[in-house]
Amino acid sequence: MKVFKTSQSLVEYLSNETRPIGMVPTMGALHSGHLTLIERAVKENKSVLISIFVNPTQFNDKNDLVNYPSSVVEDLLQIKKISKKILVYIPKVNDVYGNIVESKSFDLAGLDQVMEGEKRSGHFQGVATVVAYFLKTFTPDHAYFGEKDFQQLLIINYINRSLNLKTKIIGCPIVREKDGLAMSSRNILLTADQRKKASKLFEALQIAKSNAKRIPYRSLKTTINSFFESQDKITLDYFMIVDPNTLKEIHLDQPVDRGRGFIAAYLGKIRLIDNLDMS
Ligand code: PAJ
Repeated sequence: MKVFKTSQSLVEYLSNETRPIGMVPTMGALHSGHLTLIERAVKENKSVLISIFVNPTQFNDKNDLVNYPSSVVEDLLQIKKISKKILVYIPKVNDVYGNIVESKSFDLAGLDQVMEGEKRSGHFQGVATVVAYFLKTFTPDHAYFGEKDFQQLLIINYINRSLNLKTKIIGCPIVREKDGLAMSSRNILLTADQRKKASKLFEALQIAKSNAKRIPYRSLKTTINSFFESQDKITLDYFMIVDPNTLKEIHLDQPVDRGRGFIAAYLGKIRLIDNLDMS
């Protein structure tokens, strides 16, 4: 494992000898979800580049940024155990942004106007800014992203195509805890009580899936709303079934034949998201 603190030193190190390069961008506080992406990249590439960077421009809420978990020492210990061919990029904010810490403005074809984009204003412009910077600067052959952040994966695929970048974007399935909770760095911020309740997101998605073909989508929405109203300590932010390519909401009057369900809910101040294929 080699650690780089600046993009310049990393770019100087990269060469034809290090290719193919697989990149796994992260914000650290690594868990098994991240590790699955890293292990896949190790299998498919000569070198694997992991970035650990809590990207300030994608946080629309200052408190969320301040409270975002960090465990760089433990992260490096975990990474070290996986493979020798791993390069880790841990930059300071000014290495990525210089002195002006703000998002660029990308055309995201409206993919950033719904769900997470609607609820977290500017979030995807921040994600697109940092990911475009990584892909342009390090030109990885492959870059690995989790379906846990399905909307993010779609947006990254979109900018990769529209900016004509040469990286192949690879989407990886969601890794879950035993009770179905999607793994997330934010899960460690939950109290024991909240942690128990957190599996309700996945439970709701499963209820949706098992009823999707039977009842109109409008009724399904009512079912999911009532499910959360009957629970305490967890508040639904949104539940939607959308076309997995355009993110347009499906027809309200018909049962679901194809689509992906997306959910966001609050446990106290912690906001969790999840999604599931409904077909
Ligand atoms: P972060 O939340 O650290 O996630 C890094 C990558 O791990 C993302 O592609 C995410 O989708 C994936 N991931 C997280 N939890 C997962 C799970 N349970 N199963 C499968 N994959 C999972 O996403 C970000 O960081 C940032 O937005 C980033 C892309 C690094 C840009 O700053």
